[in-house]
Amino acid sequence: MNLSADPALGAPDEAVEFAIPTTLAGSNPAPAGRWTHRHLLDVDVLTSDDLDLVMRTTATMAEVLTREIPKVPVLRGWGVTILSYEASTRTRVSFEVAAKNLSADVVNIAAASSSVTKGESLIDTIRTVEALGARMLVLRHATSGAPYLAAQHFSGSVLNGGDGWHAHPTQALLDLYTLETRLPGGSVRGRKIVILGDVLHSRVARSNLWALTAAGADVWVCGPTTLLRGFDAWAASGVAGSRRFTVTSDLNAALRDADVVMALRIQRERMAAGLLPSLREYAARFGLTRERLALARPDALVMHPGPMNEGVEIAADVAAGDQSVITDQVANGVAVRMAVLYLLAGARDGSARDGGGRDVRPEAGREAARGAVPAAE
Ligand code: MLT
Repeated sequence: MNLSADPALGAPDEAVEFAIPTTLAGSNPAPAGRWTHRHLLDVDVLTSDDLDLVMRTTATMAEVLTREIPKVPVLRGWGVTILSYEASTRTRVSFEVAAKNLSADVVNIAAASSSVTKGESLIDTIRTVEALGARMLVLRHATSGAPYLAAQHFSGSVLNGGDGWHAHPTQALLDLYTLETRLPGGSVRGRKIVILGDVLHSRVARSNLWALTAAGADVWVCGPTTLLRGFDAWAASGVAGSRRFTVTSDLNAALRDADVVMALRIQRERMAAGLLPSLREYAARFGLTRERLALARPDALVMHPGPMNEGVEIAADVAAGDQSVITDQVANGVAVRMAVLYLLAGARDGSARDGGGRDVRPEAGREAARGAVPAAE
């Protein structure tokens, strides 16, 4: 099925104008808008209109998921390969479920059981999966920037499923969707959102900073100073040139009157020795307990991207408590990934890229701001 020739998705020679095909139409209004991205490498290139389109498309996909058979044929015949160089449960499974719900042909490759163990390079692996029919590639890799390299060598669309410390765009999008569906008023605009914990090693924190500030939230990042290194400079320079956020190790100030608290895992696998005295001390000083959560607004929402280490960054009763939306985050991961796969599949190849795979849209001038982003490796 050629989506770009689908009349519902705009004539091939026009900019891609989206309307959800009738196979998706349910009780929700069909989202319409313009999607120009061939890849999803991070959320930093998404405008607030793009975010809005993803949110509206996700709402339509969420409606599909309520059907008795939550499957639509819009990606029938499309090869989607999920290539994981890092352990994953939620991201890998929800991409797989999402692609299958759209009727794609899904192939899962764990690098640990592939020819990578025989010395095959990332580029060779990408060429191989493309030769075997992949038109969309979901890549999770421990090295920041790996999906950007993949995008230069893969003729279809690359979706970043998490790269090193750098970015986790679909996590940020599902977090935004979760907040928009759970916060009274349906918007994060003006809400105080605290990202608490190992911010330094967190791709989730970095992508959320872009998405949440773009959507108008007042974002605070909080943790031990060793785990906030470099974020002050980023905050001072402004995200994307103008949007700002607050960086603090003062947990009480961060939590006071917060609308949302997102706890992050201590990412020991990415951490150099000496940044924390011990997990016990971290838990005692920064763990999100019921007593500490009481500083936030009474109806504050609790989030965690998973996997959780209960008793370290979050107490078990907080994770399972009434204010927790952690299960919603996992469930919404499927709808948001269906939306993103759908939008990317419909985007006209090359519409926003030059021959070198670089983003050439006028709003892509993010490099200047990125220069101030704390180094991700
Ligand atoms: C990630 O992939 O970064 C996770 O969702 C968060 C974590 O690993 O702690």
